[in-house]
Amino acid sequence: MKILAIETSCDETAVAIIDGEQILSNQIYSQIELHKEYGGVVPEIAARSHVESLPKLLEQSFEEAGITSHQLDAVAATGGPGLIGGVMIGLTYAKSIAAMLDKKFIAINHLEGHALSAFMPESKLKYPFLLLLASGGHCQTVMVKNLGGYKVLGNTLDDAPGESFDKVARMLNLGYPGGPIVEKLASQGNKRAFDFPRPMLKQGGCNFSFSGLKTAVRNIILKQDSIDDTVTANICASFQEAVAEIFLFKVSKALEIFIDIHPEGKDIVIAGGVAANQYIKAKLSRTFKEKGYNIVSPPLALCTDNAVMIAYAALQRLKSGNFSDLSFSPLSRWPLDEIKY
Ligand code: KG4
Ligand code: ZN
Repeated sequence: MKILAIETSCDETAVAIIDGEQILSNQIYSQIELHKEYGGVVPEIAARSHVESLPKLLEQSFEEAGITSHQLDAVAATGGPGLIGGVMIGLTYAKSIAAMLDKKFIAINHLEGHALSAFMPESKLKYPFLLLLASGGHCQTVMVKNLGGYKVLGNTLDDAPGESFDKVARMLNLGYPGGPIVEKLASQGNKRAFDFPRPMLKQGGCNFSFSGLKTAVRNIILKQDSIDDTVTANICASFQEAVAEIFLFKVSKALEIFIDIHPEGKDIVIAGGVAANQYIKAKLSRTFKEKGYNIVSPPLALCTDNAVMIAYAALQRLKSGNFSDLSFSPLSRWPLDEIKY
C-alpha cells in the first residue's frame, strides 16, 4: 500500500512516501532560519513558507521514492492540532491530489502520528501501551488500548517540556531548537550543581507543570556574576535532570492507572521531539526495566516532526478500512481522545 503524506502543522514542511512499512522517501524542510530573529514560530511566515516549499518537496519526494503519483493508494495530511494556516495548506494540497487522482484521502491527528511512530520500523511494540508524548507543544500521558482507543491521563498545565528546553537555551544564548544543544552541554555538566524544583510532584495527579522550573533557571542565571562554559553546562545538566525526574514521577503515576486497567500491557512509549533526548530515555528505561516494562521510542530521526509518522498512522487507518471525507476541516485543537473512527 503506497501512501503519500504531508505534515505542515508547525515550522517543518515535510513530505513522505511509504510502501507498507517501507519508507520510500522522507523529505523535511525546516523553517528554523526564517523564525530565528523572532524568537519563536510566526504563524503567517510559517504558512507562506509551506506554500513555497511544498511543490518542490513533493517533486523531490516522488523522485526519491521512484514512483509516480498514479501508483499511490492514498494521500494523507495532518488535520490538526497545530497552527491553523499551515494545517490548512497541507490538507488542501493532500485533498486536491487525492481528488485529482481519485485516491483515498486520510486526515491524521498530529499527536496520533507521534504516538504510532514508535511502531516504526520492525518495532516489537504491542497494544495496549502507556504513552508519554513530550514535544515542543504538548506533554501528555495517554493510555493506548488500540488504534483510536486513547485515554489521556495527564496534560501539562502550562509549558511543554520541549518549549522549556528551548527557553532555557534562549536564556543561555545557545540558539534554537534548544533540546539537542542543552542535551549535548548537559553531558559535560554536573546534574547536582543546582537544585531546581520538580513542580507539582505532590499535586495534580498525572498532570505536569514546567513553568516554575523555567523561572527557577532564569533566577539562577540572573544570580551568576558571569556565565562561563562550566556554569552553562551545570545549568543544562541540572535542568535536564529535573525534567527527567518529573517524567519519571508522572509516568509512574500514570502507570498505576494503566496497570489497573491493562495488567497485560508491558510497553511504555516515549514519543515527540523530547524523545530524541538519549539521557532522559536511558534514565526512564533503567527505572521501568526494573519494574518489568520496556521503553520504546521511534528511531531518532522520527522523534521530531516528520511526514513518515503521518504516513504510517494513515497506513494503520487504511488497514482498518478507515478514511476521511474531503469535507474534513482543519482543527487547531484536536485532543487525542476526541479522535473518532
Ligand atoms: O515533536 P516536535 O518536532 O514538534 C512539536 O510537535 O512540538 O518537537 C520539537 C521539540 C523542540 O522543543 C525541541 O527543543 C525538542 O523537541 N527536542 C528536544 C531534543 N530534540 C528536540 N528536547 C530535548 N532533548 C533533545 N535531544
Ligand atoms: Zn510534533
